[in-house]
Amino acid sequence: MSTVLLPTRTLARAAAHNLRYPVCDLLAPSTIACASRQKARIHSTPSKTSAAAAAIEPSPSPETTSNGTPIKPLTRSQRDFLDSALRVNQAGELAAVLIYTAQTPPLLRSHPHLRPLMKHMHDQEAGHFSYFNSLLAKHRIRPTAMYPVWHAAATVLGWGTAVMGREAAMACTEAVETEIGTHYNEQVRVLLDWAEKLEERGESMGDELGTLVGELRRIRDEELEHLDHAVENHAKEARPYELLTNVIRGGCRTAIWISERV
Ligand SMILES: [Fe+2]
Ligand SMILES: [Fe+2]
Repeated sequence: MSTVLLPTRTLARAAAHNLRYPVCDLLAPSTIACASRQKARIHSTPSKTSAAAAAIEPSPSPETTSNGTPIKPLTRSQRDFLDSALRVNQAGELAAVLIYTAQTPPLLRSHPHLRPLMKHMHDQEAGHFSYFNSLLAKHRIRPTAMYPVWHAAATVLGWGTAVMGREAAMACTEAVETEIGTHYNEQVRVLLDWAEKLEERGESMGDELGTLVGELRRIRDEELEHLDHAVENHAKEARPYELLTNVIRGGCRTAIWISERV
């Protein structure tokens, strides 16, 4: 549990920091509009604060990729999409870590042979959470304001389904991973669509976004692996399976919708 609480506190500090230095999504090469927005927002802050903000402002991105292809700066709506997507991803991975953390003790009491599997899935989720934490910090994207609510809800969901039994715990995993796998697929599809359109014009969205696509695919594949593990471990024998998975999947979609916006 402590591995989860530490980054949570760190993120709370980062969230407070972002309230002072508003978000300026910087996955794209820096743009004049972005710089102007930042300058306008810090205009009324004390000079010491302005100097600190300037010191942490990333240097302008290169104008070509490592292989010399011109980089096209993202539009405002594309940057907004990425801000929302990464905010949701970070919240989702927090929830995943907490679900497995809460499920593990009750589940292992009755099914100790599941220890390696639970540790494997938990550790992968912790890696995903750490990756999105680093992206949010690097690009100064604020975490969702619902962070404390998702924190509590995920813990209750994990503990509650594990107390219901192995089948319910695995049905929870199946439901969550189905939704999150779909969510990552959609992000990959959007980014590949951007890349394809740019490529047709002899441009690129940049090495960093190319790396992001690769990481999203890797993480999506690991989520789908968790889904397979859940089905192999009798998720579909949960009772009542349909009600349980539909409620959890609906909850996931609602949490994604809210986290994209607040
Ligand atoms: Fe994950
Ligand atoms: Fe997962």
